[in-house]
Amino acid sequence: MGYPRVVSTFDDLIAANERVEPRDEMPDAYRATLVRQIAQHAHSEIIGMQPEGNWLTRAPSLRRKAILLAKVQDEAGHGLYLYAAAETLGVSRDELLDALHAGKQKYSSIFNYPTLTWADIGAIGWLVDGAAIVNQVPLCRCSYGPYARAMVRVCKEESFHQRQGFELLHTLSHGTEAQHAMAQDAVDRWWWPSLMMFGPPDDASTHTGQSMAWGIKRFSNDTLRQRFVDMTVPQAEALGLTLPDPELRWNEERSSWDFGEIDFTELFEVVKGNGPCNAQRLAHRVRAHEEGAWVREAASAYAEKRAAREVA
Ligand SMILES: [Fe+2]
Ligand SMILES: [Fe+2]
Repeated sequence: MGYPRVVSTFDDLIAANERVEPRDEMPDAYRATLVRQIAQHAHSEIIGMQPEGNWLTRAPSLRRKAILLAKVQDEAGHGLYLYAAAETLGVSRDELLDALHAGKQKYSSIFNYPTLTWADIGAIGWLVDGAAIVNQVPLCRCSYGPYARAMVRVCKEESFHQRQGFELLHTLSHGTEAQHAMAQDAVDRWWWPSLMMFGPPDDASTHTGQSMAWGIKRFSNDTLRQRFVDMTVPQAEALGLTLPDPELRWNEERSSWDFGEIDFTELFEVVKGNGPCNAQRLAHRVRAHEEGAWVREAASAYAEKRAAREVA
């Protein structure tokens, strides 16, 4: 902010809708909530590289490969901004990665589904990155400064991701009959898991009330989910694809789309670790971390050498 602060205690900052910065005192529970949320977010960006990375070597053209490569690299960058934001709360990136690898911290369950065809890359960009945008745009106004600022840049990149997914699906949908069918099949498989990305329904959500009082969360899960459905239905029409929900219909009174009931028992199974790819994703992550040990060692040796030279 460009003007001097007139309030300083945590409660005053929250009440005045001012940003809380790393130098400010904050309740332990606020700090712990942010660490949990930012870590889970960072892990999701990093694990989320796997389902798409699966198609990098099989992209159908050089153009598609370049786009996908850029997208997957963006996700790595998002992970790094977020680990850096978490570090301002007093936890190190090493600690967070250890917690992920030990299964003590979570990542978004959406990445525990497999990418079976090339069209899945389009469905992920359109639906998964689309849901991420709806979730993350309000986080640009989150009460914790470093998290909010990281989100501004992340959201700009997510909107590129969403458009590339839409464009990819549009091409397939208007291609051959087989390509159209492949696009439809991908949307059929990714639609419901995308709706589950917003978390449990409001009456079953344990953290929502406190997070909203602290200005971390600005809207409830169900509000954001509805916003996503309203945004996505007309886009599906533009794509020439259908969404796999027979109960989807326009509600004149609410000026919103009604949609069918979500099978949350499936979500909870995936959260518990029983999704189609949970074990594979985590094992791959741990292996990549171990195989990268020499890079981390070389980088710290280089940094030490440089620091020693500067002292000299
Ligand atoms: Fe991302
Ligand atoms: Fe993304």
